[in-house]
Amino acid sequence: MAFGSTLAREEAFTDDVWRQRAERGASGADNVTFVAEQDGRWLGIATGLASDPDVPDDPRPALVGMFVLPEARGRGVGTALVNAVVDWARQRRATALCLWVTATNDPAIALYEKCSFRRTGESQPLAHSPAVALFRMARDLV
Ligand SMILES: CC(C)(COP(=O)(O)OP(=O)(O)OC[C@H]1O[C@@H](n2cnc3c(N)ncnc32)[C@H](O)[C@@H]1OP(=O)(O)O)[C@@H](O)C(=O)NCCC(=O)NCCS
Repeated sequence: MAFGSTLAREEAFTDDVWRQRAERGASGADNVTFVAEQDGRWLGIATGLASDPDVPDDPRPALVGMFVLPEARGRGVGTALVNAVVDWARQRRATALCLWVTATNDPAIALYEKCSFRRTGESQPLAHSPAVALFRMARDLV
């Protein structure tokens, strides 16, 4: 429920799709994915998109797909991933970075608030579960 996509949709992707996602950003492309790794094991992942798919007219980039393995939580991995996407957005000279979060996702909201994101006042239903609300947060980068 934390994500706009579903497990079934993501599991149906071929390895090629995951390779493309991992490669994005490598040569200055529009989107980037960061992986937090320890001893060869992936602990977490986060992606920066050049524009928000839900608000295509908005020039500000978006932070999406933030996930940390349950056993790796609470030791700064999420913060490090947010900071990596913030640095990427700054390098693109973006004025702000935006994201959507489920209104009931207290750990994620706390993470983003600690990382200086604030609610914009915008909200929308979660596409695959419309009874659940998403709200938007933004962090100024200037
Ligand atoms: C949200 C998530 C990414 C946080 O990752 P994390 O590595 O545990 O985050 P950090 O250790 O960097 O935590 C940073 C701050 O966030 C807040 N926070 C994180 N988890 C929290 C929790 N369970 N309860 C309350 N606050 C929490 C705290 O303020 C914490 O700072 P502190 O440790 O000094 O108190 C992780 O819980 C997760 O993957 N959740 C499932 C997927 C998800 O919800 N993704 C977000 C989609 S928008």
